[in-house]
Amino acid sequence: MKRVFSGVQPTGNIHLGNYLGALKQFVELQEENECIYCIVDMHAITVPQDPKALREHILDVAALYLAVGVDPKKSIVFVQSDVPGHAELSWILTCCSHTGELSRMTQFKSKSQNKESAPTGLFTYPVLMAADILLYDTDIVPVGVDQTQHIELCRDLAIRVNNTRKKTFIVPEGRYLKEGARIMALDDPSKKMSKSAENVHSRISLLDDEAKIKKSIMKATTDSDGVVKFDAENKPGISNLLNIYSVLSGMSVEELEKKYEGKGYGDFKKDLVQVTVDALKPIKARYEEIRHSEELLEILRDGAKRAGEISEKTMKRVKENFGLGF
Ligand code: TYM
Repeated sequence: MKRVFSGVQPTGNIHLGNYLGALKQFVELQEENECIYCIVDMHAITVPQDPKALREHILDVAALYLAVGVDPKKSIVFVQSDVPGHAELSWILTCCSHTGELSRMTQFKSKSQNKESAPTGLFTYPVLMAADILLYDTDIVPVGVDQTQHIELCRDLAIRVNNTRKKTFIVPEGRYLKEGARIMALDDPSKKMSKSAENVHSRISLLDDEAKIKKSIMKATTDSDGVVKFDAENKPGISNLLNIYSVLSGMSVEELEKKYEGKGYGDFKKDLVQVTVDALKPIKARYEEIRHSEELLEILRDGAKRAGEISEKTMKRVKENFGLGF
């Protein structure tokens, strides 16, 4: 059995990109692997957060994990800050990382752009992410492609420690889906769909109602030639919608191109609205059921206990190999 680990930041507006790039994989992988899924609240505080809202967002993500099909009987679901090993290992790995490699991270560069000074947490964000992964002897990390550079850094740190000390870490691999790995913004297909974009019609949030889904899809940017064909370079808008349609419906892009041969974008978008509404309806229903339940809190408490036990074993080994503590 392989060990799988992944996480989502509780920063609100969990969207189709998060679902198709990451959450959908979480569900598939739990059938044959030992999966650990985390709500990474300590990553969220690398930018200012309102404490009350953050607590709510943590529970929102936890409920969404379960709503999309993560099964707490098969997988561990927990909150990062409930397991102290993340912060502990993050410091040790910080001491193995270099400012040069961290300043090359594109996420840090874009978030600190045009600022004289940036929060240190934003700079060391990828090291905490590496700690999350290495703390559980993870083999596979299901994520969207926007995380590739962070996964590479995690692998580099693991290899570096293994080569300079006793073998301490498993070197993990990222797992990306072909179609869902990079879902683009509906209003601007040159940018990725994101939780924080100002325009709410740039994304479909998993809890959007039918009217909002319809408006966002019908408004989505396409092109003027009106042919439903996948061509990411020249027709990025319709290609992005084809990807979304394909992953949500299980039909291949080629099958969809055939289905819409001779039809316009209007017909295609109308059907995509229906496919999206149908896919999100059960997720929303399950979410409403569990979001304010005692069961959710119990699942998180139990998850933290189980994750804590695994992490303590790793920390014992790490400390021994680094000559720390007694
Ligand atoms: P976050 O919270 O930004 O996103 C959660 C997951 O969703 C994927 N994703 C996308 N996939 C496809 N298309 C998109 N437009 C899109 N937007 C987001 C992300 O790739 C991610 O898989 N740094 C991570 C959280 C993290 C983590 C970890 C992940 C912290 N520690 C350890 C894996 C392992 C992040 O910010 O994800």
